[in-house]
Amino acid sequence: MSGKFDTIYRQSIEAPGTFWAHAARDLYWHKSWDDVIDGSNPPATRWFAGAEFNTAYNCLDRHIDAGFGSQTAVIYDSPVTGVVRHITYSALLAEVARFAGALAGHGVVKGDRVIIYMPMVPEALVAMLACARLGAIHSVVFGGFAAKELATRIDDCQPKIIVGASCGIEAARVVAYKPLIDEAISLAKHKPAHCIILQRDRQRAEMQAGRDLDWLEVTAAATPHDCVPVPATDPLYILYTSGTTGAPKGVVRDNGGHAVALNWSMRNIYNMERGEVFWAASDVGWVVGHSYIVYAPLLYGCTTVLYEGKPVGTPDAGAFWRVIEQHKVRTLFTAPTALRAVKREDPEGKLVGNYDISSLRALFLAGERSDPPTLEWAEAKLGVPVIDHWWQTETGWAIAANCLGIEQLPVKHGSPTRAAPGWDVRVLGDDGHPAKAGEIGNIVCKLPLPPSSFPTLWNAHERYRKSYFDHFPGYYETSDAGYIDGDGYVYIMARTDDIINVAGHRLSTGGMEEVLASHPDVAECAVIGVTDELKGQLPLGFLVLKAGVTKPHEKVVIEAVQLVRDRIGPVAAFKTATVVNRLPKTRSGKILRGTMQKIADGAAYNMPATIDDPAILGEIEGALKGVGYARK
Ligand code: COA
Ligand code: AMP
Repeated sequence: MSGKFDTIYRQSIEAPGTFWAHAARDLYWHKSWDDVIDGSNPPATRWFAGAEFNTAYNCLDRHIDAGFGSQTAVIYDSPVTGVVRHITYSALLAEVARFAGALAGHGVVKGDRVIIYMPMVPEALVAMLACARLGAIHSVVFGGFAAKELATRIDDCQPKIIVGASCGIEAARVVAYKPLIDEAISLAKHKPAHCIILQRDRQRAEMQAGRDLDWLEVTAAATPHDCVPVPATDPLYILYTSGTTGAPKGVVRDNGGHAVALNWSMRNIYNMERGEVFWAASDVGWVVGHSYIVYAPLLYGCTTVLYEGKPVGTPDAGAFWRVIEQHKVRTLFTAPTALRAVKREDPEGKLVGNYDISSLRALFLAGERSDPPTLEWAEAKLGVPVIDHWWQTETGWAIAANCLGIEQLPVKHGSPTRAAPGWDVRVLGDDGHPAKAGEIGNIVCKLPLPPSSFPTLWNAHERYRKSYFDHFPGYYETSDAGYIDGDGYVYIMARTDDIINVAGHRLSTGGMEEVLASHPDVAECAVIGVTDELKGQLPLGFLVLKAGVTKPHEKVVIEAVQLVRDRIGPVAAFKTATVVNRLPKTRSGKILRGTMQKIADGAAYNMPATIDDPAILGEIEGALKGVGYARK
């Protein structure tokens, strides 16, 4: 191997300090670092220790000082409200500085937490950047989560303020956000001092006197606030993601390392130039939204598209192509599920022909495995490279990718290509032995992890150590299983924990089981992820009822489905459950979820040697057939 990519990759692994210090020079540091890599607190790696930095300054002020203030920073394109708005870097800075002033005026200082629970509106970006400007730590919560999930996050990160909106607008319905915030606060032990609420015309919210403040009023009254330089290793944000239990993990992101990695990725992975238009069709509530709707495009001086709509239904399956034409998008980043939704409505790709998408240079996919038929469909219809890349909330950027800005490597369908610079990806057997090429095992990354990787979990450093670093000392355990082929291409096959991936969203089946088990009629339960043509996976529940329950099974199922929607939220997409007499288990009592999943998908399976009673599998198959699964 001796191409340009190989050379750069080797440099990043052999001399990570030199490599990332070089990349850091593109950004503005209020004070330079003492150590590029600080490994004094293993297994965490802290980047640019001793430096002072401000992420918002680097996203906004730096570009304006360099004369790019009149360039468009954000294009807000909202088919659900019929609004398209261009916001220049100067205008965005003015809004951010003013909102930072509003937050400061209500007591927010460096290190304080602020929860943001908002739909895809420019004010969500303004709130994030305003926190960054003050050195406050934001935690954005995706709108599809229920009040209970929001309450858990409120109690864990204890925000001084919650920034919300009156409603979100989904394709088919208006979702009232404010009542969810009210309910979450009443459920939580911690009470924020204030809620700042953006009132949207579609549905205005009732305000609680004293606690709730109107976005427009507080910003009108505020004085713009300057940037507060913070230690580069200080947290920029906390983003909660599903863990193996109902308690979500608060992934912490630092300021300096995060900015360096993201800024580097814009040129080297996505092959972007300053001033070009980048569109991540995700949501600010997910890591893709944090990194590639907000921070990376702005750090790099691009124009970012903030799209408040769906791939289909707003108004049709040509929505993505319309946005590309209208805003001259150079790079689109989305999840395979979005393309599957488009393909299902427009299998021939006829709507692509209605638009001039010649500005598009590449399509990047992530969030779940890219199934080759979808990838091939996109390649044929769009005529640009379609690049699968693999990453996680914990990393904030791609672990494996085809780095178009360095050298385009051959695409192998089913693989997100090779480990990206900075990532020393290996495959280990359960006992820690290095796997041979092609042998499936645990995918791990050798320490030190590159910049932007999470230095801890909020309030849970011990959980951080135990969950990710204990099993394979010296490595970060990704919880993905897969293999690396003879050319160094990585293949991601499945999670090794109970996480399932629904429409590119990461969900814990364990979390759903906790909710189902709380139903008064349920004695025992299991949730598995079944294969779904559109969403990749869908959760499916098995319920064993308590002795003596006389309620019709259908009624218990309806209540159980509603319970998951109420406690976790619509995002869980939990719509199917079935009542069974017993669950298949090993003799030691472990539920055989893997086998149940294979039966549901109609896949071949071996009878587990340790099964307690093989007859139960027949009962499970019968129950699955009753809800439309287990078809061979
Ligand atoms: N606020 C409130 N509710 C939301 C929401 C939000 N921001 N986002 C989704 N929901 C709701 C949906 O309305 C839906 O509710 P329903 O059960 O009442 O219909 C539910 O949560 C599930 O949403 P979703 O899984 O998104 O399904 P969908 O049928 O609305 O849309 C796709 C399907 C494929 C079009 C959509 O999932 C999509 O565009 N996915 C792209 C995924 C993505 O961006 N991933 C991020 C990683 S790149
Ligand atoms: P999240 O933290 O929500 O981004 O989810 C991360 C998980 O999504 C990973 O651990 C993988 O299981 C899955 N994932 C993300 N990108 C890919 C990809 N390109 N191919 C396969 N799985 C992926």
